[in-house]
Amino acid sequence: MTPPEVNLKRPRVLISVEDLERRITELAAEIDRDYAGSEPILCIGVLKGSVFFMVDLLKQVQTPLQIGFFQTSSYGSSTTAGEIRIRKDVDISVRDRDVLLIEDIVDTGYTLRTIMALLEFRGARSVKLCTMLDKVAAREVEVPIHYTGFQIDNVFVVGYGLDLDDHFRNLPYIGVYEGDVE
Ligand code: IMP
Ligand code: MG
Repeated sequence: MTPPEVNLKRPRVLISVEDLERRITELAAEIDRDYAGSEPILCIGVLKGSVFFMVDLLKQVQTPLQIGFFQTSSYGSSTTAGEIRIRKDVDISVRDRDVLLIEDIVDTGYTLRTIMALLEFRGARSVKLCTMLDKVAAREVEVPIHYTGFQIDNVFVVGYGLDLDDHFRNLPYIGVYEGDVE
């Protein structure tokens, strides 16, 4: 089967640069308030989509913190839905740490459910989740979200870290992709 061409036309703006900036400032203030007086937070990003959001957010957080990364992928569609593979593991121990997971988007919920279970199994003291986007209507398994940038409809979005076949990550805003996704 030939993969469809990616339509590189500039996607329509869904969330503007200004709206992202404003919301990120609010989220950083909330995080500082919640973690005030605690030990350094271990902020773990899920590669690659969360990188742009994570950098902008954490530059505004004052609470001492460390960073780490997971990279995940789902297995081919021929296997059980929701089976997640860890491609890159965090290089800092999570035992007895307050972990703040940073994700670009929660869609079905399978990725975050798997990661949160793994962190709890490894003895993290607390695990909270901060996601830039929440596609509420697409959820198949529940995950507790503590900080949400924006709730969006069930559309395919790109930009500000989010990709289609690794295209569009460097768009400064979040746009709706106009073309076939699968
Ligand atoms: P999950 O379905 O909640 O496990 O989400 C898994 C991953 O799918 C996310 O971390 C994103 O990398 C990707 N994803 C879900 N929806 C979109 C989208 O609209 N645009 C780009 N990537 C998406
Ligand atoms: Mg992702």
